[in-house]
Amino acid sequence: MKKELEELQKKASAELNSAKNREEIQAIKTKYIGRKGLLTQILRTLKEVPPEERPALGQLSNVIKASLSAKVEDALRDIDLAMKDEALLEETIDVTLPGRGVKYGKIHPITRVSQEICEILMNLGFAVVEGPEVEFDYYNFEALNIPKDHPARDMQDTFYIEDDIVLRTHTSPVQVRIMEKQKPPVRIISPGKVYRPDSDVSHTPMFHQIEGLLVDKGITFGDLKGVLTYFVHQVFDKDTDIRFRPSFFPFTEPSAEVDIQCVMCRGEGCRVCGQSGWLEILGSGMVDPEVFKVVGYDPEVVSGFAFGLGVERIAMLKYGISDIRLFYENDQRFLKQF
Ligand code: PHE
Repeated sequence: MKKELEELQKKASAELNSAKNREEIQAIKTKYIGRKGLLTQILRTLKEVPPEERPALGQLSNVIKASLSAKVEDALRDIDLAMKDEALLEETIDVTLPGRGVKYGKIHPITRVSQEICEILMNLGFAVVEGPEVEFDYYNFEALNIPKDHPARDMQDTFYIEDDIVLRTHTSPVQVRIMEKQKPPVRIISPGKVYRPDSDVSHTPMFHQIEGLLVDKGITFGDLKGVLTYFVHQVFDKDTDIRFRPSFFPFTEPSAEVDIQCVMCRGEGCRVCGQSGWLEILGSGMVDPEVFKVVGYDPEVVSGFAFGLGVERIAMLKYGISDIRLFYENDQRFLKQF
């Protein structure tokens, strides 16, 4: 039996040495030292051996099993290494292939124009502040001299969240929030999203405005004209004609809308300006004394002006875009151009 065991070890070793892949090695392992393998079969005949010889034979078979196991592990490791070497030799890296480029994102045109406008006004000393998009009726309307049931509410269709909470329809509520907190002088701009249930080539239910507010002693309509004229000449070019047209807003008195000479036809009259030669770009006016009273400012002591402009509108005019919805379709071909 001892001979049989030694024979088995020799044969198994020889087979392992000539095995060519993992499958062959696994098969040899099962054949010799697996649970139903040849070694087990030999050991079944142990009971036929005289009892005094059994311990030595048992020990020998354990040693053989352990040594074969180790040999199997070694053989597997050698095969793996050999396969890796072979793969490395076969694979070549073509260093002349073009690389995979990294795609960079771009600043959205609306963000870009908004930043540009804020920068121009910051250079004039305006500070940027923000307000909430979900707003109390009080700040969006009431404190701006637009009482409940007042016909002026029709000027701005509104998304209501609750009876007294709306999605802000303009950035003007930020004026009130700032004046409530801060004593004059005040010089702020406030960019942000606003909402109105409107949708066509020139309206989206969400759009962007920038509000401006300047309050101090002795501020006049002349200051408003000066700031807005300078502003228009920075955003468009210096030869752009500008006019102030009387208008109405409940929170400014007097109020004016600002028109610029049509950027498409230079005032000749075209489809974009409806043949008028002018394009409306913002609303403005002197802060109404009623608004000052609400925030505790004395209209006998301070005065100020405010303006609100639509960022999409200005971006469309600047870049000659005829459909506002293009800004929000996420079409890469459109967005890539800016
Ligand atoms: N809030 C007004 C609007 O959205 C614009 C405006 C702002 C007018 C400030 C006057 C002063 O229509």
